Amino acid sequence: MAQKAKEQRKKKVIEVLNKARSMELHAIGQYMNQHYNLDDLDFGDMAAKVKLIAIDEMRHAEMFAERIKELGGEPTAEPAAKAQRGQEVKAVFSFDANLEDNTIDTYNQFLQVCRENGDSTSVKIFEAVIDEEQVHYNYFDNVNSHIEKLGETYLAQIAGTPSASGLQTQGFVARQGGGGAPGA
Ligand SMILES: [Fe+2]
Ligand SMILES: [Fe+2]
Repeated sequence: MAQKAKEQRKKKVIEVLNKARSMELHAIGQYMNQHYNLDDLDFGDMAAKVKLIAIDEMRHAEMFAERIKELGGEPTAEPAAKAQRGQEVKAVFSFDANLEDNTIDTYNQFLQVCRENGDSTSVKIFEAVIDEEQVHYNYFDNVNSHIEKLGETYLAQIAGTPSASGLQTQGFVARQGGGGAPGA
């Protein structure tokens, strides 16, 4: 009986972790698409930052998946929604601020489910992720309000800025010493 109740609690936690994972997969696809578009439109600084935020969402998707596996579940590969393509620059930042705002609200509810079902490790994961979503929200919301107040004047300042993120990611191939690494 107690065993069954424990399994039920675990199931509820896995369910919210998987819903969160599918939301992350949606955000990854959406932000990657925006990153290429912003880069293509020559808004380099925005492109670089949106790329870094997409990478944060990839970390979140992995954090949720690792916890799901620990609990004996199967991480979903389905995004919560399809990424919108070809958004106008002016639409991107209000869209993203809204997405982060909804994510924060939903994750707070998911955190509550983890707490009610006695999983303090998953509570901590949600707490850490929510803090990062808040930083994302702040960035998107700031840019959105600059665009709303200053419009083209603001966008003109961003046009032509470099898109380098400054991030030295070491992928699998580079770690193996391949892929044209110096001295290889
Ligand atoms: Fe995230
Ligand atoms: Fe986010």
